[in-house]
Amino acid sequence: MNTKVRTAVIPAAGLGTRFLPATKAQAKEMLTVVDRPSIQWVIEEAVAAGIDDILIVTSPSKKGVEDHFDRNAELEHLLEAKGKYDELAEVRRITDLATFHFTRQGAPLGLGHSVGTAERHVGDRPFAVLLPDELMPDGGATLRRMIDVTESTGESCISLFEVDGPDISNYGVAGFSERDGDLVTIDRLVEKPPYEEAPSNLKVTGRYVFTPEIFAKLAITEPGRGGEIQLTDAMAMLIGDPGMRGLVIKEAGYDAGQKLDWLRANIELSLDDPEVGADVAEMLSGIVRARGLG
Ligand code: G1P
Repeated sequence: MNTKVRTAVIPAAGLGTRFLPATKAQAKEMLTVVDRPSIQWVIEEAVAAGIDDILIVTSPSKKGVEDHFDRNAELEHLLEAKGKYDELAEVRRITDLATFHFTRQGAPLGLGHSVGTAERHVGDRPFAVLLPDELMPDGGATLRRMIDVTESTGESCISLFEVDGPDISNYGVAGFSERDGDLVTIDRLVEKPPYEEAPSNLKVTGRYVFTPEIFAKLAITEPGRGGEIQLTDAMAMLIGDPGMRGLVIKEAGYDAGQKLDWLRANIELSLDDPEVGADVAEMLSGIVRARGLG
């Protein structure tokens, strides 16, 4: 097995019903956060972590996603002719971020099925999976650490985050046998358990680094919660064979697939933006004052 993680799989075939009507005719992954689609934030994170090969799993309504990472000769000519060189460089940079590949999920059978469609492309190598509606704007630091864990142990590694109370039932949940700082050895994984049955308060967030054994597990994963092939169920079969590690992270990032968190991502990330940050801060304090929210 080649042990270097070079490929990231981005499952982008979901319908995005949580964000209707915005997602009626547009892929949810293309919703703008500050000045770029959420999926571009995620791919830039992967590239910052050392990934140079991206496979995006799409469905028929996602043409916009493919076009975004493809060249647009007409637009490039136009920008050049108008002397808009900064914009031209930015448009070209998107295509040059990595090598892009696309595959179709075929049928909406669940996240596990979507990741399974990557097998032909990934082959016998470890690889990363990033859920594109979760933003982790940390310059790729979390993913890089996860990759380092997998490359040094030969075991898969997922990111985990502590959740208070019954909200844990909305996620995959990991129990663990040993903890060393922020790294745990996972001994249980359950998809969206009832609160009383959750093995811990650690939710599975949208970052995964898998050894290629996950494909054999996915191939024998029966439909689980919601009748779907669940990635969590296949991961549970990796426990001890060859093993599952978890990295407990302190910042959850943003769930850009939820209206409120998408708004929070826009506000916080625009505050961090060198171009507009100061103006956004002023605008926000103006709104707070005018509405008496302070
Ligand atoms: C998926 C996974 C779940 C994970 C979650 C993270 O659920 O199935 O294990 O905790 O992503 O956001 P979904 O959000 O698709 O329901």
